[in-house]
Amino acid sequence: MKSVLDVLKANQGHYVSGESLATMSGLTRAAIWKQINQLRDLGYKIDSSPRKGYCLVMATQVLHPFEIQEGLKTQRIGRTIHYRDTVDSTNILAKTLAKEGAPDGTLVIAEEQTAGRGRLGRTWSSVKGKGLWSSLILRPQIATSAIAGITVLTAVSMARAIFETTGIQVQVKWPNDLLYEGRKLAGILAELHGEMDRIHFLIVGVGLNVNQLHDEFPEELADRATSLRMIRGEILDRKLILQRYLEQFERAYHQMTDGNLQDVMAYAREHSATLGKWVTIRSGFGQGLMGEALALDDDGSLWIRDTTGKEVKVFSGEIIEEMEENP
Ligand code: BTN
Repeated sequence: MKSVLDVLKANQGHYVSGESLATMSGLTRAAIWKQINQLRDLGYKIDSSPRKGYCLVMATQVLHPFEIQEGLKTQRIGRTIHYRDTVDSTNILAKTLAKEGAPDGTLVIAEEQTAGRGRLGRTWSSVKGKGLWSSLILRPQIATSAIAGITVLTAVSMARAIFETTGIQVQVKWPNDLLYEGRKLAGILAELHGEMDRIHFLIVGVGLNVNQLHDEFPEELADRATSLRMIRGEILDRKLILQRYLEQFERAYHQMTDGNLQDVMAYAREHSATLGKWVTIRSGFGQGLMGEALALDDDGSLWIRDTTGKEVKVFSGEIIEEMEENP
């Protein structure tokens, strides 16, 4: 027996008679009618005609966990999903759930964030239903020093997912942003909870601008941000991008726990928005380091030649200024 939704999906755009639906699902006409109404409440657009039956006009655009998991090819990442219509921040909710014991690979996703968090205390604009606002709870069994590459790994996984689903090639701005023609498409906020050499859990939050139009960004971001819809000129399927991201992430995450990030870093080098530029980096202690971005190491850290000519390895940080040439 198939579910009513499966039958309608297999015939999307065409009418299925009430009688065929009853045969295929093993339900009574009354039970089918009840299910159709429940599906409509979940956002599926279903036409009904007394003569022709039912027709799925459009699948829901809402990111219901069962929709995400249908066809998802992962073992752990995204196997447990916490979905919210509205939340303050998926990173905050993920932290609470992690403290309550949520398993490795748990995905927290929301249609809207009322207090989306960016790095350096900034806020993250998270318009309802327009982007992918998600956080993963991770419990890697490795030393704290081995997770330096987690943000680059996340950026590369999302970049690959975007390319797979839309054909758009984005650039990785070390270590935690995705850009398209210099404008910001996605940002990553990774938060580590642990001790000096023991990770309790890691929260990796990603915000990806998918279907916003120019005037849906706050005024101060309008000229610096972009969305996949603005690039491609059409509405894109958030669920497909999310599924491919979770799959790419799982592959890269295994590589990280195996201590082998060469493949991920090769991609980040090939599509880097940073290498060769003059940058000012703010890392942990707030000190700005200026120099030329020379190379990306296989562990995810960036080699800089500073203004005295010394080569310095930077493990994490935030590029606060960049220039094409030596100022
Ligand atoms: C940045 O570029 O400053 C990082 C932005 C990170 C935004 C994402 S959206 C999902 C997750 N939840 C949050 O509150 N922030 C991250």
